[in-house]
Amino acid sequence: MVIDFHSHALPGLDDGSRNAEMSVGMLRAARQQGVELQVLTPHFYRWKEDISSFAERRRESCGVLKKELPGDIPALLVGSETAFFPHMSREDLSELCIEGTRVLLVEMPFESWEGHVTDEIARLSLDCGYHVVLAHIERFLRYKGNAEELLRLQQLPIHIQSNAEVFLSFMSRSLGLKLIKSGTVTILGSDAHNLDDRRPNLGPARETIAKRLGLDVLARIDSEATALLGRVAEMVAPPRKETVK
Ligand SMILES: [Fe+2]
Repeated sequence: MVIDFHSHALPGLDDGSRNAEMSVGMLRAARQQGVELQVLTPHFYRWKEDISSFAERRRESCGVLKKELPGDIPALLVGSETAFFPHMSREDLSELCIEGTRVLLVEMPFESWEGHVTDEIARLSLDCGYHVVLAHIERFLRYKGNAEELLRLQQLPIHIQSNAEVFLSFMSRSLGLKLIKSGTVTILGSDAHNLDDRRPNLGPARETIAKRLGLDVLARIDSEATALLGRVAEMVAPPRKETVK
């Protein structure tokens, strides 16, 4: 199943889609690019609000979107992109996980990670049983020491996501392909925010990956993402009859 694991297509919730019309445009574009299941992952910042208030705002946004939904869009699942915060493993993060799962998309700090960051991710994974997915890993590797911390993190049963954009720029493409080839990255997302400069772009990224690494690599990514979501993916997005790119 083709899954876009990371997007900001819920209306009026964060710096992503501004309204239901834009959300529908984004979802239609994703579907046209072959996306079968779109995970909606609005930003959550613990230092700005508590989890219940975020969940309430997200419910309202879903309600607005649901009134407008056409048929030619992917199946939808709601989650979050939760920015790392100290001692996050002490809170109940279930509401932040992708609905019906223990899958938690975590945005790591935009700085050199200290040991306590890696330790906290380990607690989330090993003690709390969350299936942690680290969002757009390529953005953090330029900070000193993070490549080494990533090696430590890879000892954990966690998953690592890259944004489609990394495969679409000449400057970053080789890094993206290297991360897939080494098995570091197994999850893809558009991180789409709008219909302009951060529009849905998973389709072209997938074409690049298929061309450079082969269709079997893409098939492996699709099956790992589907397995991570488990039965929920099959329930919301049963196989379609038409051929999907
Ligand atoms: Fe994001």
